[in-house]
Amino acid sequence: MRALAWALVLTALSPVSAFAAEAGAEQILKVCKKTDAEDCIVREFKHTVEAAQIRGRSVYRAYCVLCHGESGLGDGRAAKVHTPRPANLVASQVPPEYIELIVRKGGAGVGRYAGMPPWSDQLTDEQINDVKQFLIALRKP
Ligand code: HEC
Repeated sequence: MRALAWALVLTALSPVSAFAAEAGAEQILKVCKKTDAEDCIVREFKHTVEAAQIRGRSVYRAYCVLCHGESGLGDGRAAKVHTPRPANLVASQVPPEYIELIVRKGGAGVGRYAGMPPWSDQLTDEQINDVKQFLIALRKP
């Protein structure tokens, strides 16, 4: 799990990353050591996309893993009881605004299957934004 976590940070910090320019990856690399990079990013750069992704992973693990699975492939423990199955979030191509909408309102709120619950009562605006950033980072380039 540590390795996966570090891979996420490296992806986020990669110079070719679309996020890098926006969030000042160079600045982060200057300040944060590899050993506690994630804690450091969340502490020192809390308004960056990188920090949102790290916080978003915690939100995802707490609320989404059961259906969407550890890696986001739609293969969580409860996936089998849903038809249609929970979306494969790695392959998903819906735009960021739509992620936010379906997360807030649930499947039923956007004319889809109600097995995808609405989260606006459960999660703060920051948590919703964080999990959205995490899902964007999960996608294959
Ligand atoms: C109880 C099971 C369940 C949980 C928990 C759940 N989902 Fe879902 N989710 C689904 C199902 C089922 C669908 C597919 C709905 C459909 O196809 O109509 C879905 C679809 C989605 C989609 C649409 C993706 C696309 O490409 O259309 C997103 C985004 C999503 N979920 C995000 C989340 C996030 C973020 C969380 C955690 C906050 C979460 N889901 C928690 C069951 C779940």
